[in-house]
Amino acid sequence: TAAPDLAGRHVVISAGGTREPLDPVRYLGNRSSGKQGYALARTAVARGARVTLVEANTGLPDPSGADVVRAGTATQLREAVLKAARDADVVVMAAAVADFRPAEYATGKIKKKDGQEPAPIALVRNPDILAEVSAERATPGQIVVGFAAETDDVLANGRQKLRRKGCDLLVVNEVGERKTFGSEENEAVVLGADGTETPVPYGPKEALADTVWDLVAARLG
Ligand code: PMT
Repeated sequence: TAAPDLAGRHVVISAGGTREPLDPVRYLGNRSSGKQGYALARTAVARGARVTLVEANTGLPDPSGADVVRAGTATQLREAVLKAARDADVVVMAAAVADFRPAEYATGKIKKKDGQEPAPIALVRNPDILAEVSAERATPGQIVVGFAAETDDVLANGRQKLRRKGCDLLVVNEVGERKTFGSEENEAVVLGADGTETPVPYGPKEALADTVWDLVAARLG
């Protein structure tokens, strides 16, 4: 059994992928299964934390011992994360949040019209939840952890993202159509705002989760 080094701590974890509706039938989404976020939730429970898991479209069974809050869109995920973060010691953003959403929602199914080119889809920006949580720090000493899902120049992009988002730790992982999304394994480098870089070799998503909690516990003091 794990050391209860998160006992008495409230940790908030987001998991899964947001879906941004175009009409009652279609959405813009991504390939996140939620498995990495659920592994974080399970391991945090095992280490004694009170866990709020904000999940988006995972369809996974609730991890025992965690409070699960459901969110569909980035807007809903933001509301749920900000609310849970108010008394949190740690916030971990493992969810794949859509950067953009359709500018307009059609209340009826969008129809194709004979002989007409498809209409372009106009997008607007979603708020950056990780940057907001990092800037606000709802409780003193709150630790904020982000993830970076990259396909190219993984580490360089990760280092830039860490600075831009203002979090304490950023877990940089490579993704692709068949890489990381939906699989049981992951590999990553965890970047610290203090300049530390912790490589985590390819292995179960729980192993990466436990390394994240080791680094968080060391920073909680
Ligand atoms: O779910 P799995 O199938 O197990 O796959 C795991 C994973 C690849 C989804 C996970 O390990 C991961 O990398 N999650 C973050 C995905 C992501 O959205 O990365 P990003 O580089 O686009 O975003 C960077 C960070 O900002 C993330 O912490 C994200 O939650 C956050 N973000 C992004 C956009 C936005 N509008 N608000 C945010 O808070």
